[in-house]
Amino acid sequence: MFDPDRFIAWLTTKWVARPFHFFRELPSTNSWLKSSSDLETGTVVITDNQVTGRGQYDRKWVSEPGQKLMFSVVLRPGNPKQMHTITLVAATACAEVLQTYTSSRICIKWPNDIYCESKKIGGILVESSFLGGKIDKLVLGIGLNVNQTLYADDLSTAGSLRLFSESQNPIEREKLLAKILIELERRLDIWEMRPESVRMDANRRLIGFGCYGTIEKNGSSNSDRYKFMGVNHDGFPTFLTADADIVTFRSDQVRFVPDKGPCDPM
Ligand code: BTN
Repeated sequence: MFDPDRFIAWLTTKWVARPFHFFRELPSTNSWLKSSSDLETGTVVITDNQVTGRGQYDRKWVSEPGQKLMFSVVLRPGNPKQMHTITLVAATACAEVLQTYTSSRICIKWPNDIYCESKKIGGILVESSFLGGKIDKLVLGIGLNVNQTLYADDLSTAGSLRLFSESQNPIEREKLLAKILIELERRLDIWEMRPESVRMDANRRLIGFGCYGTIEKNGSSNSDRYKFMGVNHDGFPTFLTADADIVTFRSDQVRFVPDKGPCDPM
């Protein structure tokens, strides 16, 4: 089980997870923070068993007690409209830390998935919470598959960090979470001062960055080919068309499908 004392021993942050709350069981860490008032920026809530965890597009996020990391953070960015950028800052922070556990490539699938090779090992859900008609806070929720070793079949797109880890031993979730929150704080601080600086780090980790492929909109695609140029300053993906125009899609319903075969990213 997750040990909050071990976690606090690793934590060296200034404002993220100051304070933090740990619950053995909770419906959803995002919901808990959204429905609580008077929370300080940086407040973190962690649970070991999330009974009604939520993913993007109202999908369920299934809990496996003792195996995953499930946590949420209260944020109040200067510009709360930048939800996509927050997602990317958080995804990059997670990816950089997860990369220290494996030699397999950790990537980000825009807008909110964390992959190791072809397996999804984590997801991010950013939600806004309103007070008196105004955005009071953003709730950044992160779910990571850490120690699971059993998956229904090899065709499953889900995986865990442990499956790609160099070590035979289970990963210490308390230390991993502390490292992620330290990196998240560092990147959020940089982002507030120099918003441009997060883009290149995120782009380098994006699946298909610099590659050619097709675009799926709302599940359907045509044969038009694009080169994926990474995300713009609002966190939305940009593409080079065959006519040498740059186009941006401001919808989560857009998926870039890189061509099969080798791609030499920029
Ligand atoms: C996705 O992959 O669609 C996003 C998954 C986000 C899951 C996390 S777990 C912690 C937080 N609380 C929730 O209910 N959801 C997020």
